[in-house]
Amino acid sequence: MPEIVYLNGEFMEPEKAAIPINDRGFLFGDSVYEVVRSYGGRLFTLDRHLARLERSLHEIDIRSVDIAQLGRAIEEACRRSGFAEALVYVQVTRGAAPRKHAYDRGLRPTVLVHVRDLEPLLDPSIREGVAAITAPDIRWQRCDIKSTNLLPNVLAKTKAKEQGALEAILVNEDGIVTEATSAGVFCVEQGVVLTHPLSPAILPSITREVVLEVAGEVGIPVREEPVSLERLRAAAEVFLASTTIDVCPVITIDGAPVGDGKPGPVTRRLLAAYLERAGAAAPDGKGGGP
Ligand SMILES: Cc1ncc(COP(=O)(O)O)c(C=O)c1O
Repeated sequence: MPEIVYLNGEFMEPEKAAIPINDRGFLFGDSVYEVVRSYGGRLFTLDRHLARLERSLHEIDIRSVDIAQLGRAIEEACRRSGFAEALVYVQVTRGAAPRKHAYDRGLRPTVLVHVRDLEPLLDPSIREGVAAITAPDIRWQRCDIKSTNLLPNVLAKTKAKEQGALEAILVNEDGIVTEATSAGVFCVEQGVVLTHPLSPAILPSITREVVLEVAGEVGIPVREEPVSLERLRAAAEVFLASTTIDVCPVITIDGAPVGDGKPGPVTRRLLAAYLERAGAAAPDGKGGGP
């Protein structure tokens, strides 16, 4: 089964896809993106990802992208790929123009969809818990926009990887945990799930939204409030959540165990409820992405 690219209205093999060197996404990071996945061949929460993409585009003043048509292209690309666990990368740039910082209105946005097979990238062992490090949150002040300006995330995540950790948990100047480089961060204190409230400091994560919904369904209380790193370290449980890793227990932070150093009951319950909602395999089955 093939990887599929959809670029500016045409489906093609990835090798055939080419972007001009003066594309503003390449030159300036003048672009936004989405990552969607399927479970068992069904795209999960595509409508929410499209709504977030539309908002990101609006926030950076890129107009004239037909979101409904893009949604159909994503579905068609997935269908053509045939992957059961498809990883769908979607990027829209402002388009190509001779390099200068200020943009002209009326550029034709570059619209890219790339469908890959997520299955070989899934690591079931992450269900048993992962290590995280902490890093200063040095990103810009509009982290609610899913922009491709990811250099701080790239540097922090690489530091995590080099230290044998899956993620870097980002901490702002006030000592507050915002999120991780490519996932939301949650902790559990006395049975209550805590996570940073929606604000320009964090991405409005779709997985976060679903986790909060399923928590309500299974009767786990949630409070959206800023949590200091000190509190996070002392929490009974810590977990990450994103499209590719679902709900993922964190068992060490900077080498020190979280709680008893094992995935906790609230995290396990939420993982099971999340996977049930996604229509995926049980927690002891496949799961856990890059
Ligand atoms: C900074 C950041 N926070 C949170 C998330 C999780 O978002 P979602 O649940 O929509 O995948 C991501 C995903 O890439 C991210 O990059």
